[in-house]
Amino acid sequence: MATDPELAPGEIVAGSDFKVVRVLGSGGMGTVYEVEDVSVGRRFVLKTLHMKLIDRPEILGRFQREARVLAQLTHPNIVEVITFKWTADARRRCYYVMEKLDGRSLRQLLREHGPLDARTATGMAIDLFDAIDHAHDNDVIHRDIKPENLFIHRNRDGGWIAKLLDFGVMKLLQADSDTAGRFLGTLKYAAPEQFEGWGAVKASDLYAAGLVIYEMIAGVSPFDDTTNDSELTLAQARRVPPLLSEVAPTPVPPALDALVAELIEKKADNRPQTALEVANRLREIQRTLLAEDSSDTLLGSNPPVARSARPRRARPLNFKQLPRRLARRAPELTFALLVAVGAFISFTMLRRSRTSSDAVLVASPPPVVSALPLAPSASSKPLDAGAPARNKAPR
Ligand SMILES: Nc1ncnc2c1ncn2[C@@H]1O[C@H](COP(=O)(O)OP(=O)(O)O)[C@@H](O)[C@H]1O
Ligand SMILES: [Mg+2]
Repeated sequence: MATDPELAPGEIVAGSDFKVVRVLGSGGMGTVYEVEDVSVGRRFVLKTLHMKLIDRPEILGRFQREARVLAQLTHPNIVEVITFKWTADARRRCYYVMEKLDGRSLRQLLREHGPLDARTATGMAIDLFDAIDHAHDNDVIHRDIKPENLFIHRNRDGGWIAKLLDFGVMKLLQADSDTAGRFLGTLKYAAPEQFEGWGAVKASDLYAAGLVIYEMIAGVSPFDDTTNDSELTLAQARRVPPLLSEVAPTPVPPALDALVAELIEKKADNRPQTALEVANRLREIQRTLLAEDSSDTLLGSNPPVARSARPRRARPLNFKQLPRRLARRAPELTFALLVAVGAFISFTMLRRSRTSSDAVLVASPPPVVSALPLAPSASSKPLDAGAPARNKAPR
């Protein structure tokens, strides 16, 4: 990294309107900067690829794919990518620009706050699994889910939302030739199949996210006692960790205990089938926890955490996707809705043919229609009024 010339604070990124404000972090792939678009005075985050890696086509390709895939994964729980560019100077650095999030990574939060209670952790886990569900729906495996890559972002309304970052080692299911057979990601959260030569599958993301929930509530990861990589991989492959409830400092509902144990099953086939299934089970757990205690006091004094017990907000309603989401999430409801609408139309037409005055009928539809919720399922949150605006900046 010493050979990698950094962008200096105050420097304008060549060929752009982005002025470097400060370095936010530096990892294996590149450096993350806070920048300001001087043309509009708005802050963004810019991520570069290390100079020494630009000459490696497979890494450059992966970085470019990360930007492209992230730009296409439009979801409230995934960081929004705005553009991918090359600097206009002789260095020809490549970078991409993201929305600037406000808050801290889950890793930082855990460091500052210590373990979280089940209700706070469940809220964050729902966000995480919604993000994974969206990525998997688009045939993207993240492959590096860990507390460092989940950002707890403060909304403008003072609430918070967790957003998945850093698809740096993600892999498109259909484009994996450059990474086949090689381990990518962080060993501590790697599922057994990832280092047993099978590579990452969607279920590997569920395993890693299961370990993240475990760590959020227990304060430690189950294999933290290992001292080197081979001990760690052996433990991941063979050792069944104690139940979360046995090590957590705060109470863990049995349904959450069981779900985490399933997520960190050694065999991918024994884990829950989809991220969507997990998100739905977590929502059920959240409902029970909120019904038992809806006060804020359990959640500690940290403001973003204290607000986290609020029922989560609904994804912005996308009318194009609505029929598909309805059918996936609540098939019985969709069927009932269709039957009710059909019955209403036939009823209205029948009455129309019998009476000349249809105004009363149109004004008061049968109760079954008006009682049906507009949102996809009973578990859905109120329509999102205060979430950060998405897709406003030009791509
Ligand atoms: N969009 C963003 N807004 C605010 N901070 C960010 C953003 N993206 C990354 N960061 C910060 O930079 C750190 C590293 O970013 P990440 O994308 O995970 O890169 P790396 O490849 O170095 O792991 C994150 O843990 C987070 O603290
Ligand atoms: Mg990272």
